[in-house]
Amino acid sequence: MALQDCNIVLGVSGGIAAYKSADLCRQLKKNGAKVRVVMTQGACAFIQPLTFQALSGEPVSTALLDEDAEAGMGHIELAKWADLILIAPASANCIARIANGFADDLLTTLVLATEAQIAIAPAMNQVMWANPITQKNLQNLIESYEQRLQIVGPASGEQACGDVGFGRMMEPSDIVAAISQESTPRECKYRVVITAGPTREAIDPVRYISNHSSGKMGYALAEAFHAVGADVCLISGPVNLSCSSGIERIDVTSAEQMYEQAMRQARTGLDVFIGSAAVADYRPIDVSEQKMKKTDFGDNIQVELTQNPDIIANVSAMREISQSLIVGFAAETNDVIQYAKSKLKRKSLDVVIANDVSNQEIGFNSDNNEVTLVTVDGEELLPLTSKASLAQELVTRLSEKLNQKRKSK
Ligand code: PMT
Repeated sequence: MALQDCNIVLGVSGGIAAYKSADLCRQLKKNGAKVRVVMTQGACAFIQPLTFQALSGEPVSTALLDEDAEAGMGHIELAKWADLILIAPASANCIARIANGFADDLLTTLVLATEAQIAIAPAMNQVMWANPITQKNLQNLIESYEQRLQIVGPASGEQACGDVGFGRMMEPSDIVAAISQESTPRECKYRVVITAGPTREAIDPVRYISNHSSGKMGYALAEAFHAVGADVCLISGPVNLSCSSGIERIDVTSAEQMYEQAMRQARTGLDVFIGSAAVADYRPIDVSEQKMKKTDFGDNIQVELTQNPDIIANVSAMREISQSLIVGFAAETNDVIQYAKSKLKRKSLDVVIANDVSNQEIGFNSDNNEVTLVTVDGEELLPLTSKASLAQELVTRLSEKLNQKRKSK
C-alpha cells in the first residue's frame, strides 16, 4: 500500500507500547499519509489524546457516540474514510474483541464496519501471545478477513515486564515498512509448497507405520504464507486439521504419494519449498492385501522395510528450481545442530529448521515450538513461542533469505 495520500485510521489500544505509536503516527505522516487516531479507554491510560492530536494534526476520537459527527455516526464516517485501519499496539484484549465481532467501543466498531484493509501490530506479554486462546483469535481473524488482514509482528526480545520472547510491538519504522508498498508482505507473490504432517506406510489394510506429527507446524506455515498473499500449496499427510479455503491442499497418505505430489508441484515451478512433514524413511516391502492374522505367525513377526525416496533432496536436486529456497526441518533428540548441519549439506538445502523433539513442550504435536535456523552462514535461535507466531517470524526470515539467494545469483 502506497502511503502517500493514504487515509489511515491509527487505532491505539491499551498497552505500554502505546508510547511508540506516537512515533508511528509521526512516521506515517512523514510518508505522506493522512492519519486519524482512534484511542481505546485503555490507551488513554497510557498516553494523552493531545499527543496524537498534535502529531496527526487531526482531532482524536475516543468515544463511539460522537455528537459532533454528521448524523452522530462518527464510526461509519471513519470506516468509509479509511483506506487502512492500522491497530498498533493491538493488545490481546483488542485482538480477542475484534476476532469475536465486538462493537462496544469506537475501535472495534470501526473494524466491524469497514471494508478497508486492516493491519494489526500485536503487543503483549510473551505468555499471553503464546496462549492458544490468543492464537485461536488470530486464526479467527485470518479466516474472517483473509486478504484484507495483515499481521505485523510481534517481534521477539526483552519486554517491558522483564520477560523475553515474542510479544513486543514491532518498531514503528518496521511497521511502516511492512505496510508500505515497497516491502509489504501482502505483496508477496511467492509460490510456496509445504509438506506437512506424518506419512503412513501400510503393512496391511488395517495397520501402518507412522509417527506423532500432527501437522500443526506445517499448517501454521501455510496459513502464515497465505496471510501475506503467497500462493500456497499444502501437501498434507493424514491430520485432523483444516486450512483456509485459499490454500491449495493436496491430501496424501504415504511417503511415495507425498513424493509424487511434491515432484509434480516442483516441476510446475515454485519459489519456496518447505519440508515440515515427518516423512517415514522406510516402508514395508510387501503390503499384505488381506488383514494379517496372528494365527499365521509365531511369537515374532518380521516386516522387511525398504527406503522411501527422499522428497526434499529430490526437489532440491531439480535444476529448474535452482533459484528457489529449499527449507528442511530436522527433528532431533540429540546433537540437534550437528545433525541439522549434516542434513543441510547432504540434502543441498538452503535452510534447516532444527527442533529438539526430546523436549515434549515443543516439536511433535505441541502448540509451541522453539527452533534454530541453520544455514551455511551460521545458526540463529528463535525462542519458544506458539507455532502460529513462529510461522509468522519464519515468513519474514525465509522471504529475506529468498531475496538474498536471488540477489547473489
Ligand atoms: O507436525 P507437528 O506435530 O506440528 O510437528 C512438527 C515437526 C516436529 C514434525 C516438524 O517441526 C519437523 O521437525 N519436521 C521434520 C521431521 C523429520 O522427520 O525430519 P527428518 O530429520 O526425518 O527429515 C529431514 C528433512 O527431510 C525434513 O524436512 C523432512 O520433511 C525431509 N524428508 C525426510 C525424509 C524423506 N523421505 N523425505 C523428506 O523430504
